[in-house]
Amino acid sequence: MKRAGWFGVAVQLFLLVESSVKTPVRRFPGSIDSPDPILSPPVHLRILDQHVIMDNGLVNVTLSTPQGMVTGIQYNGIDNLLQLNRETNRGYWDVVWGSLDPPGNLGGKYDLLEGTSFSVVLEDENQIELSFTRTWNSSQNGTGIPLNIDKRFIMLRGCPGFYSYGIFEHEEGGPDINIYQGRIVFKLEETLFQYMAVSDERQRIMPTAGDRQNGLVLDYPEAVLLTNPSNPELRGEVDDKYQYSCDDNNNRVHGWICSNPPVGFWMITPSDEFRTGGPVKQDLTSHVGPTTLSMFFSTHYAGESLAIELRDGEPWKKVFGPVLIYLNTNSPDEDALPLWEDAKEQMLIETQSWPYDFPLSEDFPRTDQRGIVTGRLLVRDRYINKELLTANFAFVGLAAPGDVGSWQRENKGYQFWTQADNEGYFLIKGVRNGNYSLYAWVAGIIGDYKYDAYVNITPGSRIRLGVLVYEPPREGPTLWEIGSPDRSAAEFYVPDPNPTLLNQLYVNLPDKFRQYGLWDRYADVYPDEDLTYTVGISNYQTDWFFAHVNRNLGNKTYEPTTWRIIFVLDNLIDTGTYTFQLAIASAHEAELEVRINEADEMPPHFTTGFIGKDNAIARHGIHGLYWWFKVEISASQLVTGSNTIYLTQSRGSSPFKGIMYDYIRLEGPPETD
Ligand SMILES: *[C@@H]1O[C@H](CO)[C@@H](O)[C@H](O)[C@H]1NC(C)=O
Ligand SMILES: *[C@@H]1O[C@H](CO)[C@@H](O)[C@H](O)[C@H]1NC(C)=O
Ligand SMILES: *[C@@H]1O[C@H](CO)[C@@H](O)[C@H](O)[C@H]1NC(C)=O
Ligand SMILES: *[C@@H]1O[C@H](CO)[C@@H](O)[C@H](O)[C@H]1NC(C)=O
Ligand SMILES: *[C@@H]1O[C@H](CO)[C@@H](O)[C@H](O)[C@H]1NC(C)=O
Repeated sequence: MKRAGWFGVAVQLFLLVESSVKTPVRRFPGSIDSPDPILSPPVHLRILDQHVIMDNGLVNVTLSTPQGMVTGIQYNGIDNLLQLNRETNRGYWDVVWGSLDPPGNLGGKYDLLEGTSFSVVLEDENQIELSFTRTWNSSQNGTGIPLNIDKRFIMLRGCPGFYSYGIFEHEEGGPDINIYQGRIVFKLEETLFQYMAVSDERQRIMPTAGDRQNGLVLDYPEAVLLTNPSNPELRGEVDDKYQYSCDDNNNRVHGWICSNPPVGFWMITPSDEFRTGGPVKQDLTSHVGPTTLSMFFSTHYAGESLAIELRDGEPWKKVFGPVLIYLNTNSPDEDALPLWEDAKEQMLIETQSWPYDFPLSEDFPRTDQRGIVTGRLLVRDRYINKELLTANFAFVGLAAPGDVGSWQRENKGYQFWTQADNEGYFLIKGVRNGNYSLYAWVAGIIGDYKYDAYVNITPGSRIRLGVLVYEPPREGPTLWEIGSPDRSAAEFYVPDPNPTLLNQLYVNLPDKFRQYGLWDRYADVYPDEDLTYTVGISNYQTDWFFAHVNRNLGNKTYEPTTWRIIFVLDNLIDTGTYTFQLAIASAHEAELEVRINEADEMPPHFTTGFIGKDNAIARHGIHGLYWWFKVEISASQLVTGSNTIYLTQSRGSSPFKGIMYDYIRLEGPPETD
């Protein structure tokens, strides 16, 4: 098989410098010892009895054979960066799944995806690629997930780290299953790694796994109050891995720093194409362990609609990754923090190099086997502007054919998203072969766009879609609005946390919503009466609680709440239909009832029905899955003068049931012109 390994690229780059052709420069800044990969020692593979070791002079990576568990990472004089747990609990792929065999047992089964066969795909001086496979056959019924698994590990010359990707295949005719979660995990040595970095602002000294065991479990097992941590400065803080979640489109680099000797351990996920649920699906990053993850797919912040359901022998195959496990160091007397800056730089290099040209599976297409889609998105909303608006910075993406907005629940294929520029022009590149729908949404505009035609990508295709026009939900002029339509509740009032339940990291950061226990602050902010919002007087940044939660009555009792919006209509158009546009940023086991001027109206004027299982309130997400409802209100239900809309979240009993609003708008009857 032909390949252009790192060495080949380096030579090409060298030749191109003279003619100043702009080519993405692929280098590894962390390899301070040998910044030039051409001068780096060749890669070397040692095959032992039950292990195999990849060595490029910068790092040695040991894997068990044929299982393909990462058992050792030797770097910078440290024998093993990984915890010396049993060999299946150091660096590994895993899935959570359920089968319908026996029926009704869809619960969480766990599989470490241990290989049963090991092969060397390539070994030359510039690259090693290893494959650990397991092939399902029906005589294994009941022993593990019925998928064919191929876990790949790649080491490149000059790269301080290694890549991993996995190919999962459900054969035609295979048993019915659900797969809830798939990821690659590394458990780091805790005496080395205490400082975690998830973004420029979200970095801190972390508690240990033992600190959590010595702590007090709060309302769910992931949230622990550190009552007796080994580092006394952390006493009284809350630790919860969900406080370190991130939207997938930003979840590209995170990890841990060891200060002595200075070593960074980074998970770089260079593309979002293989994740599920689109660019603003949230997932975990790194957390106490010390653990670092690349979550390929999960039901987090979405619920079971993101489970991969394979039924009726449906054939399915998907490549997850490659991701890069990147290591860096600097000299011992330097501050360790520049390692984060270097990791970010490496992340950009990896992102710009996507799709990689070195993975050897034929299931991973190269750039020239992929396609490009371009166009421009405009918005027509005559009540905002008579002219077409440009869809500035719109999210535009390709995902499996489906209904408007279906991408946020899509979980079997690949998705390719980009953000339009400040005039709505977009370019989506590196798109795999296939049949897609094109979807979009625009911050500031309600709803979801879908292009009418299917977009068919073949190798090398360049599809120019030209100008596309999104006509968002709109019936009449805006009478008033609350919030801004951006699929998030972040602009609303987020209370300060209970001072005994702080994560100090978020005390001075804008994402206060990641603090624990905010659901219980509702009863403190509104002790006597539920929230009332008076249009023209109230301000949504200070007077609209970020989540419509249940009221804590103490004694573990939570009761539904009814919020009121009071507004004045100066002159009712009494033959018209008014429209209440309701965009919801998250719902968890909730039901929102809408009543107009009649607090006890039964049945309610409108109900969403029982919706949502995204658990974003408990997990400190400021959004989950997006919902949009249009509620018509006939003029006969309104009066000239003061009117009230009652919003009741009717499902009580739990602090975590509720909704987050994205945006609410009342529109008058259509204007004729
Ligand atoms: C990798 O292993 C070889 C042989 O045991 C050793 O000489 C070398 O120092 C190791 N490299 C690192 C980075 O630890
Ligand atoms: C099916 O799996 C069983 C158990 O692992 C193995 O012994 C057998 O050889 C496999 N059959 C085929 C056709 O691969
Ligand atoms: C798997 O085993 C169960 C019993 O444990 C049996 O009912 C089922 O038919 C088997 N499925 C296949 C595909 O062999
Ligand atoms: C694309 O998918 C849609 C929906 O499944 C289907 O109707 C259409 O025929 C497909 N087009 C191609 C070219 O496969
Ligand atoms: C708390 O709930 C328990 C069980 O429902 C009940 O027995 C007890 O009286 C309640 N206490 C208060 C103060 O409401």
